[in-house]
Amino acid sequence: STIYVITPTYARLVQKAELTRISQTFLHVPQLHWILVEDSANRTSLVSEFLAHSGLTYTHLHVPTPRDRKLQEGDPSWLKPRGAEQRNEGLRWLREESTRGRQREPGVVYFADDDNTYSLQLFEEMRGTRTVSVWPVGLVGGMRFERPVVEGGRVARFHTGWRPGRPFPIDMAGFAVSLRLVLANPESRFDGNAPMGFLESSFLQGMVTMEELEPKADMCAKVLVWHTRTEKPKMKREDALQKQGLGSDPGVEV
Ligand code: UGA
Ligand code: MN
Repeated sequence: STIYVITPTYARLVQKAELTRISQTFLHVPQLHWILVEDSANRTSLVSEFLAHSGLTYTHLHVPTPRDRKLQEGDPSWLKPRGAEQRNEGLRWLREESTRGRQREPGVVYFADDDNTYSLQLFEEMRGTRTVSVWPVGLVGGMRFERPVVEGGRVARFHTGWRPGRPFPIDMAGFAVSLRLVLANPESRFDGNAPMGFLESSFLQGMVTMEELEPKADMCAKVLVWHTRTEKPKMKREDALQKQGLGSDPGVEV
């Protein structure tokens, strides 16, 4: 089956570095269709050119996060959910494609943020997803890892350091959904107004129950994806040189 990877992305200094890193992981995955959704009013030329030369099968979408829902400079990163509208736009595209009858093959949908680190084995684990499959995520939630706890082959509860009472206390990187289930639940989407930590639950609630989750990665004993975060580069020297008219050539794309 085809794995549809939906990735929200936004313009910033490290964007091309992030996209380079994950796209070169994806190049090693058979039957992967990348749905890259820019958080912007238009498709940018940086991302358009990047995709055209990526060697991947892709769909390039865009939708801006409404201003009142967008994190502003200086806000703590947990204040508002990120990437919700973009993931919904990816879902909209998938559902529209299917109504046009373009998707007869079985598929799997995975939401891959542009800054995480993905093992190739993860994609083979999720490829057989029938409803919703789940696995551990490393370096997340202030923990070494979070994971579903499996008993007798079923998910019994979740190992998490924070609000374990959430319907699905799983990071975005910790689950994949079958395309069939996404299409069977045309109303399921991410709630951009969800309180902190409830974004994943807003989508999964109503689509699947805890008992139906399919534990992968050796019954959730292996970490195959890491919630890495890239440091924001400091531009102190660049700013100083620019004031003297000696800044780095703006014609060079970074
Ligand atoms: C955590 C989760 O891992 C995310 O899946 C979840 O969306 C996020 O929290 C949340 O609570 O909203 P975190 O590392 O804090 O992730 O979030 P980012 O990696 O900064 O953003 C998630 C995705 O949204 C990334 O692919 C990023 O490129 C994109 N994004 C971020 C935008 O499209 N627009 C923005 O303004 C910010
Ligand atoms: Mn992230």
